[in-house]
Amino acid sequence: MKFLSIFTFLLIFIFVACSEGDISPQPTQQAPTNNTTADQNNDQDDQQDNNDDSQDANVVTYSGTVQAILTSNCTSCHGSSNPRAGLSLHTYATARDGAENGAVLSRIRNSNNPMPQGGLMSEANIKAIEDWAEGGFAE
Ligand code: HEC
Repeated sequence: MKFLSIFTFLLIFIFVACSEGDISPQPTQQAPTNNTTADQNNDQDDQQDNNDDSQDANVVTYSGTVQAILTSNCTSCHGSSNPRAGLSLHTYATARDGAENGAVLSRIRNSNNPMPQGGLMSEANIKAIEDWAEGGFAE
């Protein structure tokens, strides 16, 4: 009786061991990865291209800076309707004309004959318009 149970145990053990060994090796059919180094280099080039515009960041533009200064300090008198002294400063073209002929630049620093009439603007505003002129009146 004892022999039989040992024999049965051995049978089961052998059966289990064989069935585990029977598992056929998995076919290795992994697709080769196509992520080549050439693709990665292209990605790096694209990122560098995106940084090329950053040099223009310091140029004062009409739309970015000057328009807001003229709107809050000048266009109430130098706007589209009845501009004082015939000078309108409410568009890029007219503001550029007024700055290019020197009239605006001479008056915004002239404490004896200031524009706006009530008194000169802040140094930062004056400097911004001067920088805009020096930078070539960027739109
Ligand atoms: C409260 C009204 C008023 C405001 C605001 C004002 N101006 Fe004037 N501006 C005048 C009047 C009036 C004249 C004409 C008399 C004179 O030359 O002083 C004039 C004249 C000028 C002239 C001379 C034009 C010429 O051909 O002789 C310039 C340049 C000028 N303004 C620029 C500006 C600028 C730039 C601003 C804003 C920073 C400004 N003005 C704000 C009323 C104003």
